[in-house]
Amino acid sequence: MQLLNLITITLFALSADARPIRAREPAVPKYVTLPIRRVERDTGLHVELRHQQHINRAHRLASRAAGLPEPSTDELRANIERRASFIEMPETRKRFNIPSNIAGAQISNFAQDDADNTTAPALANFSAPVDPDGADTTFVTTLQLGTPPRPFNIILDSGSGDFWVESDQCSNNGAGCGNHTFLGPDLSSSFVNLEQDFSIEYGSGSASGQLVNDSLRMAGMILDNFTFGIAHNVSDSFANDPLADGLMGLSKPSLSTSGVPPAPIVMRDTGFIHQAIVSYRLPRSLDHENNGEVTFGSLDPAKFDPSTLVTINSTDSGFWIIPLEGASVNGNAVTLNSTQALMDTGTTLLVLPTADAIAVHAQIPGAQQQQSGQFNIPCNTTASVSVRFGGNDFEINPEDLLFASGGRTTGDCTSGIGSFNQPGNQWLVGDTFLKSVYFSTNIDENTVSLAKAV
Ligand SMILES: *[C@@H]1O[C@H](CO)[C@@H](O)[C@H](O)[C@H]1NC(C)=O
Ligand SMILES: *[C@@H]1O[C@H](CO)[C@@H](O)[C@H](O)[C@H]1NC(C)=O
Ligand SMILES: *[C@@H]1O[C@H](CO)[C@@H](O)[C@H](O)[C@H]1NC(C)=O
Ligand SMILES: *[C@@H]1O[C@H](CO)[C@@H](O)[C@H](O)[C@H]1NC(C)=O
Ligand SMILES: *[C@@H]1O[C@H](CO)[C@@H](O)[C@H](O)[C@H]1NC(C)=O
Ligand SMILES: *[C@@H]1O[C@H](CO)[C@@H](O)[C@H](O)[C@H]1NC(C)=O
Ligand SMILES: *[C@@H]1O[C@H](CO)[C@@H](O)[C@H](O)[C@H]1NC(C)=O
Ligand SMILES: *[C@@H]1O[C@H](CO)[C@@H](O)[C@H](O)[C@H]1NC(C)=O
Ligand SMILES: *[C@@H]1O[C@H](CO)[C@@H](O)[C@H](O)[C@H]1NC(C)=O
Repeated sequence: MQLLNLITITLFALSADARPIRAREPAVPKYVTLPIRRVERDTGLHVELRHQQHINRAHRLASRAAGLPEPSTDELRANIERRASFIEMPETRKRFNIPSNIAGAQISNFAQDDADNTTAPALANFSAPVDPDGADTTFVTTLQLGTPPRPFNIILDSGSGDFWVESDQCSNNGAGCGNHTFLGPDLSSSFVNLEQDFSIEYGSGSASGQLVNDSLRMAGMILDNFTFGIAHNVSDSFANDPLADGLMGLSKPSLSTSGVPPAPIVMRDTGFIHQAIVSYRLPRSLDHENNGEVTFGSLDPAKFDPSTLVTINSTDSGFWIIPLEGASVNGNAVTLNSTQALMDTGTTLLVLPTADAIAVHAQIPGAQQQQSGQFNIPCNTTASVSVRFGGNDFEINPEDLLFASGGRTTGDCTSGIGSFNQPGNQWLVGDTFLKSVYFSTNIDENTVSLAKAV
């Protein structure tokens, strides 16, 4: 990465003088790379409930993307309650190797996603209404905002189009917005309030506030007068997220609710990068390696196998939707109803219309549909599930077929391939799949590139 270091140093040097920065040598491939970290929010919830939260979130997003009515909060809550009663069933305990002498509060220990088991999370009170929101699994990068620049941890979401951080007046229905870094006029001398409202709803949660101009710094690049949102009001899922101070939407510009150009477009127009490309290598917790990164302006050849690279035209949607060409399990083709895939880093699971989810699991040895409607897979599975895009088969790492297995190899694990009870022809392709590939989007060409991650 010598070239990158050189560019970074050059940018630092340029940015020391406060003039706007322009591209000087268009022939040089220009890019900006930042590390991505994976953070798991410990809600103390049982793995089955966390799984259901992800399904609920995906259900909302998929409905929105397909132009269908979104499920009501009551419906999502009912899903959570159904799942909670499933956990209590003796048969479930047997299947998931939960000894009969283990009380509810300890169940969650058997389903820990992360290595950290130092705090024994309390089991939720299942009879209470459980917030259908909840951002358990998050990929964040750190960038700087304001003058003087201060670090903000930002979720990278290819499935939405707005960039915002929490404001110093942030409220979560009257309560505070958590232990976060905030932005406001007293915290930055370059802060300009544009007095224009913004508001966005996600599959889980919402944020609203005002548009501002301030300086954005990423790896030595400085964008002055960058326009983004500060949220005066956020939902629980954001207020309680221990790490994320905001979210960067990296869909196509048409999804921006405020009509503000996304960061890759501004970076391209300012000359920092040639094309509005964003490329992701998502880290996997079980790898215990901090090897995730996001690159603006290019693909990082060190992170993928070039012989597997395909570039695919996306549809006209503001989402990154591409044709789905097929799937196979252990080399056997699966008959699918779906023909499209929405690629979303902000979705944890691979979420399929029910018929396709049944068809895929039917070929995974030992997989079963649970009474909750979801699926389980033996924790020692070696099944090779591949998805075909752009003429290439991309295999999902068998570890990623299991949701929050914590590395267990006995008993049954919850499948990372989920479904909601709805017909359809579009997959919501989240991190279960994306962790196995190098994933890149190009706004200028309206394409998605995929390659096997290395
Ligand atoms: C927690 O982790 C320690 C060390 O990794 C291990 O010895 C212990 O058995 C674990 N406890 C539970 C309940 O998983
Ligand atoms: C669970 O929450 C409900 C509603 O808040 C409450 O009525 C009930 O007593 C609680 N149960 C336990 C065991 O704490
Ligand atoms: C708030 O976050 C900071 C930095 O992550 C941490 O050092 C501090 O202990 C946290 N404070 C509370 C009250 O959680
Ligand atoms: C805010 O930034 C935009 C460019 O992003 C610029 O066109 C506009 O003039 C700025 N507004 C103010 C009030 O600084
Ligand atoms: C931001 O834009 C406004 C309006 O164009 C301009 O007056 C101001 O100098 C710019 N600020 C910076 C820091 O470039
Ligand atoms: C904040 O958001 C919540 C949830 O979307 C909403 O109920 C509430 O009215 C909002 N509050 C303000 C002050 O906008
Ligand atoms: C992709 O889109 C480009 C430009 O719209 C077009 O020229 C090309 O033929 C398309 N490729 C495929 C495989 O459809
Ligand atoms: C997984 O475990 C089951 C039962 O414990 C065993 O029968 C099976 O052979 C194992 N499969 C693999 C692929 O190791
Ligand atoms: C199959 O896809 C079509 C749209 O292409 C949809 O109308 C139909 O409901 C889907 N069937 C199932 C079983 O999901």
